[in-house]
Amino acid sequence: MRADYAELAKTLGALTEGETDQVALMATVVCELHHADDRFDWTGFYRVVSEGLLKIGPYQGGHGCLVIPFERGVCGAAARTREVQLVPDVDAFPGHIACVSSTRSEIVLPVQDVSGRLIGVLDIDSDQPDAFDEADAEGLGAILRQVFARG
Ligand code: SME
Repeated sequence: MRADYAELAKTLGALTEGETDQVALMATVVCELHHADDRFDWTGFYRVVSEGLLKIGPYQGGHGCLVIPFERGVCGAAARTREVQLVPDVDAFPGHIACVSSTRSEIVLPVQDVSGRLIGVLDIDSDQPDAFDEADAEGLGAILRQVFARG
């Protein structure tokens, strides 16, 4: 099973219509994504809770680390640079944080609100090596803009 991002965007648009609470939006996005693709073994958000600090938000999958400073991990790199992190081999990523030992590859996207403020990151882990590509970055990015950056 592989995620159909255009279909997911429609479903999420309907499910979250009129909702502005970020935790409610994050929980709904994680639920729909996690069950849409066999590659997704851990799916979750980290929220910006203070300057330079991420804390776990809604997620599905095994245990997730609770706190990640911007200086650390793939999540920290996405928050620090505001750029998508496509990691084909987590063992080759300097400073990767292994919350789930089975993870082999990862994609992390920054999440911004309508004013462009960074509100967190979306992190998806896979037990498969090199599981993610540019099409995933584009499809997931469009969903995040639709749900979190709508006026
Ligand atoms: N691997 C991430 C940490 C979060 S776990 O994957 C749930 C990182 O390096 O930032």
